[in-house]
Amino acid sequence: MKAILFALLFSVLFVSETFAQKRNVIDDEANVPEYKLPDVLTRFNGGKVKSAKVWFNKQRPEILKKFTDEVYGKVPGKLDISDVKVWETSDDAINGLAKRKQLSLFFKKGDRSLEVNVLMYLPKSQQKAPVFLAYNFSGNHAVYNDPNIRLTESWVNNDPSVGIINNQVTEQSRATASNRWPVEEIIKAGYGLVTVYYGDVDPDKNDFSDGIEQFFYQENQTRPKYDEWGSIAAWSWGLSRVMDYLEKDEQVDSKKVAVLGHSRLGKTALWAGATDQRFAMVISNESGCGGAALSKRIFGETVQIINTSFPHWFCGNFLKYNNNEEELQVDQHMLLALIAPRPLYVASAEGDKWADPRGEFLSAKYASAVYELLGLEGLPSKVMPEVNHPVMGTIGYHIRSGKHDLTLYDWQQYIKFADKFF
Ligand code: GCU
Repeated sequence: MKAILFALLFSVLFVSETFAQKRNVIDDEANVPEYKLPDVLTRFNGGKVKSAKVWFNKQRPEILKKFTDEVYGKVPGKLDISDVKVWETSDDAINGLAKRKQLSLFFKKGDRSLEVNVLMYLPKSQQKAPVFLAYNFSGNHAVYNDPNIRLTESWVNNDPSVGIINNQVTEQSRATASNRWPVEEIIKAGYGLVTVYYGDVDPDKNDFSDGIEQFFYQENQTRPKYDEWGSIAAWSWGLSRVMDYLEKDEQVDSKKVAVLGHSRLGKTALWAGATDQRFAMVISNESGCGGAALSKRIFGETVQIINTSFPHWFCGNFLKYNNNEEELQVDQHMLLALIAPRPLYVASAEGDKWADPRGEFLSAKYASAVYELLGLEGLPSKVMPEVNHPVMGTIGYHIRSGKHDLTLYDWQQYIKFADKFF
């Protein structure tokens, strides 16, 4: 009886909570409550940052620490690649335009082992190619129509419409995300594409028993501690390990690696760029809440909503800011500022209110102060550009027409941006 009552109470609370969430979503500019952002060039002790030296030696590390402690969580230890296995290479991929390479990075600790599959297409026109490094959502085989790509054996979110059944992909899953990956255009522009399925590093579910996190557990530990990494930081860690490999690959210009991600993987790319300065360029495609969008500006997805729907993405400490964003000592423009002086591109879509396009733009705008302190042009526009009118300083931004997606149009801007700097 007691159990039934509890279940009833729980479901009433749950339903009203879900209801409250829905009711609270703001998607009308007129309803955005007032908010105050911390100034990126004001120290936590109140002092002002007036030189590049103070930025790099004091302010940057302090901001990075706040994001580590309060938002994404710290990496609990060090683990290097223990083995690299090259599965296959070809000099005749993409109608003879590209080299293809498939390899696995292995991580080992005690009796645990993790395999991360890497797919690379490199332009034959280049001895050492600049590359885009990007995670994909459902396996390397989904990225391009090439029967030689190995099917992932990792856990993948079910989606029968693309042949993913019992959390395993099938032949039917091939090339099902190819509309997001204009591989031929990328290759023809002189860039390589390096891609990895993010679930190889940590399957995207609220379960910390199956990804990289468990490699660092102390006895009886079953999930990361409050200040330790959530999945976004774990995925970012994975990007850094891929970078460790790329630094050793003679066919890649590792000084010209642009890390790119869409949506949750955009949040991941930003955190990778902030924590690992070897990434020479960072591209956030519609990363939204916990990515490029400001948290204190309440519009679309909020901290409370994201922590409720995806309790495994951020560190435990981030829960303190559910409906309590004003207590955060940082906001996402300060994350973007950590990328300086490296080129940074932030992109939004008009039909993607959930990710708060204006919040993403403002974040890029306020991060510009740091670029300017370093003698660079940040975002060239002080007002939000028109739809489909990209602006490109050392920070680039566009809002394109259409919905939440990674499209050819987005890639065309990223290629242009890379051409400007690489
Ligand atoms: C959800 C989530 C977003 C995330 C997106 C995605 O919509 O709320 O924060 O960016 O999924 O990764 O596609």
